[in-house]
Amino acid sequence: MSKITNCLLKKDITCKPIWFMRQAGRYLPEFRKIRRNNKNFIKLCLNSRLSSELTLQPIKRYNLDAAIIFSDILIIPYALGQDVSFSKYYGPKLGRFNFESFTAKDNKEFLLNLRPVYDAIKITRKKLKQDKSLISFVGAPWTLMVYMLGLKTTHNKLDIKKFNLYSNKFEEIIKTLSKYICLHINEQHKSGSDIIQVFDSWAGLVPKKHIKNLCYQPNKEIVNFCKKKRIPVICFPKGLSDKYKNFVQSVKPNGINIDYDIKPKWARDNLRNVCIQGGLHPKYLLGNEKVLKKKVNEYLKVFSNVPYIFNLGHGMLPETKPSVVNKIVKRVGEFKNDK
Ligand code: CP3
Repeated sequence: MSKITNCLLKKDITCKPIWFMRQAGRYLPEFRKIRRNNKNFIKLCLNSRLSSELTLQPIKRYNLDAAIIFSDILIIPYALGQDVSFSKYYGPKLGRFNFESFTAKDNKEFLLNLRPVYDAIKITRKKLKQDKSLISFVGAPWTLMVYMLGLKTTHNKLDIKKFNLYSNKFEEIIKTLSKYICLHINEQHKSGSDIIQVFDSWAGLVPKKHIKNLCYQPNKEIVNFCKKKRIPVICFPKGLSDKYKNFVQSVKPNGINIDYDIKPKWARDNLRNVCIQGGLHPKYLLGNEKVLKKKVNEYLKVFSNVPYIFNLGHGMLPETKPSVVNKIVKRVGEFKNDK
């Protein structure tokens, strides 16, 4: 059993495994080199050979405990027939959402569109040492809806008008998305990934009175599916603040990724019966190295007697120096020795 699975399922407190969100990405020169020749990001995700190569790039550099398959949460809307493109300044841009064709999509065609992701997982699993986990991931229904329906403004606030315009359709959209999300999880698992992470990156935008229907319940359904299939699952409902506690109590995932707004001590004392992951603000990787070391030590110390997977409070920033990442990996690896 890999270190991370041990933490998630056996609640092992002796090992402190480590991996990073966006460990493969723009901060790596070897990533930028491939990206330069592959301008279409979705096409790059659907090139199995290159996706596998990008997945393994950080594993070659650092002694990490997991690889995360190089793909994107927006591959699901793409496989459902919606246009998805990425602009340098505005992030993802999606085409018009067509409710009728969305609900009528055939399962087989959906899975066929995603075949290259499954092939990339198969290639990667063969090349990855057995003691390392291969993580695959999905977006939670709410976060996918935010992109598919364009529910946020350019200032990353909720677009109330659009929210109200579509709200009578939310139930059906979530039901349909959950079905496809579970299909994608199942196929990724069958291809050789051993852990699932569910990104609810815009959970913090859900209006309070809708939090159960739009966040807890849809995440719970996915977690229950994973448990039924015996797939360890980590949830990341970013921006929930003190509602992280209700989330963990209601959804009961094996692991919970905390964001950088959550105080580590608060998490340790309030998030029970769950393996905690992450938390450190990615901006600390850009600053003074003494401050960074102090912060890394703080997380390790606070979580020393509970199951904890070292990671960040959101994805690594493009300005991060690879040498800094290596220092963190080494520090976390040494931690056991100086307790
Ligand atoms: O290394 C890894 O973490 C694996 C690959 C991965 C990507 N996206 C590749 C990617 C993962 C796990 C994701 C998840 C993802 N994608 C999320 C959830 C996590 C989060 O960031 O909140 C979301 C919301 C998306 C949607 C998305 N994709 C956005 C908002 C952007 C543009 C902004 C950004 O952060 O770069 C992307 C593009 C994207 N996905 C890149 C990568 C490496 C950058 C592509 C490039 O410009 O070269």
